[in-house]
Amino acid sequence: MTDSRIPTVRLGESGPEVGVQGLGCMGMSFAYGPSDADASRATLERALELGVTLYDTADAYGAGENERFLSPFFRAHRDEVVIATKFALSIPPDDPTRRIIRNDAPYIRQAVEASLKRLDVDVIDLYYMHRRDVNVPIEETVGTMAELVREGKVKHLGLSEVTGGELRAAQAVHPIAAVQSEWSLFSRDIEAGVVPAARELGVALVPYSPLGRGFLTGSFANADTDLTADDFRRQQPRFTGDNAAANAALLEPVRTIAGAHGATLGQIALAWAQQRAAVHGLPVVPIPGTRKPTRVEENVAATRIVLSEEELAELEPIASKVSGNRYTDMTFTSAGRE
Ligand SMILES: NC(=O)c1ccc[n+]([C@@H]2O[C@H](COP(=O)([O-])OP(=O)(O)OC[C@H]3O[C@@H](n4cnc5c(N)ncnc54)[C@H](OP(=O)(O)O)[C@@H]3O)[C@@H](O)[C@H]2O)c1
Repeated sequence: MTDSRIPTVRLGESGPEVGVQGLGCMGMSFAYGPSDADASRATLERALELGVTLYDTADAYGAGENERFLSPFFRAHRDEVVIATKFALSIPPDDPTRRIIRNDAPYIRQAVEASLKRLDVDVIDLYYMHRRDVNVPIEETVGTMAELVREGKVKHLGLSEVTGGELRAAQAVHPIAAVQSEWSLFSRDIEAGVVPAARELGVALVPYSPLGRGFLTGSFANADTDLTADDFRRQQPRFTGDNAAANAALLEPVRTIAGAHGATLGQIALAWAQQRAAVHGLPVVPIPGTRKPTRVEENVAATRIVLSEEELAELEPIASKVSGNRYTDMTFTSAGRE
C-alpha cells in the first residue's frame, strides 16, 4: 500500500507535509448539482488510501453543510488528514448570487468557533482567508489569524485569491503556508503577481479548480444545456453561450496529448497543474474536486504523468485564448484588484 501512495511535499517552510495532490470537497455539498452522499464518502476513503491527505472545505460551502458532512471522515482519520477550511465569505442561501465578505476580528473569531464545532475537532490544520475584505487592512486580518494559532485553534495559515502585495504584507505578520487560487490551463492570472511572490517567500500554491470546474475533462461542453438549473457553473461566463463553444474548441491540443499518453483530458490538465512546481520553482498541491471513487483514482494517477517541453509549449497559448471571465463579478478575485 505504501508504495502506491503519492509522494508528499511541505506546504510552505513550516507548513504541514501533504500528498502532492489534495481533494476538493466543495462539490459534495454545494455548487455542482445533486450529490450522492455514499459515493462522496467512498471517494474520501479511496483518496486517503491513495495518499491524498489535504482535504479542502470552507464554511461557505452549503452554509456549513460541507464541513458537517466531512466531520465523521475527519474524526475517523484525524491523524492521517490535513483539514483545510476557510472563513470570510458567506453566500446567503436565499440568494446564491450574493457574496458577503468579512475579515474583521469579531467575525473571524465567531467563524473559527463555528467551523470547529461543525467539524467537531479541536484544531483546524490549515485556516484560509477565503476572500479579501478591502475595508480591513490585511495585516489586521492576519494578526487575528495569528492569535488563533497562538491559542491553539488553528495550526497553519493560508490565503485565497490574494495579490502578490497582499501576500508579502501578510507574511510580514505571520508565516503563510499556502495561497489557494484558481490555476489551470484556462486560468493563469496568478502567474504575474502572486506566484513570483510565493516562490520568493517560500509559500506553497494550492491550485483550485485545476480541472476548470470539470470543463477541461470534456464532461460538459455548455453549462446552459448540459448542467442542472441549480449548478453554479451556469453563472460562470466562460461556460455559457457562445463562450462555451469557443472554449470547447481550445481543448483540441489537450485531446491530442491525452491520446499520446493513453490518458484522459482531465489527467493532462492535472499533470500540467502539477508541473507548475518544476516550471515556477515552488511547492504546488492541486486540489481537484470529485465525488466519485473512480475519478479520484484517475486524478491521482495523473501525478505520474510528465509532460515534455514540447507538450507544455503546445498547451502554453490556451489560457490567453479563453473567452469569458472566471466569475460574473471579477472584483471578487485578486485579478479584479491587480
Ligand atoms: N478558494 C476558492 O475560492 C475556491 C473556489 C472554487 C473551488 N475551491 C476548492 O477547490 C476544489 C476544486 O475545485 P472545483 O471543484 O471547483 O473544480 P475542479 O476540481 O476543476 O473540477 C471539479 C469538477 O470536475 C469533475 N471531475 C473531477 N474529476 C473528474 C474526472 N476524472 N473526470 C471527469 N470529471 C471530473 C467533478 O465532477 P464530480 O464531482 O461529479 O466527479 C466536478 O464537476 C473545490 O472542491 C474547493 O474545495 C476553492
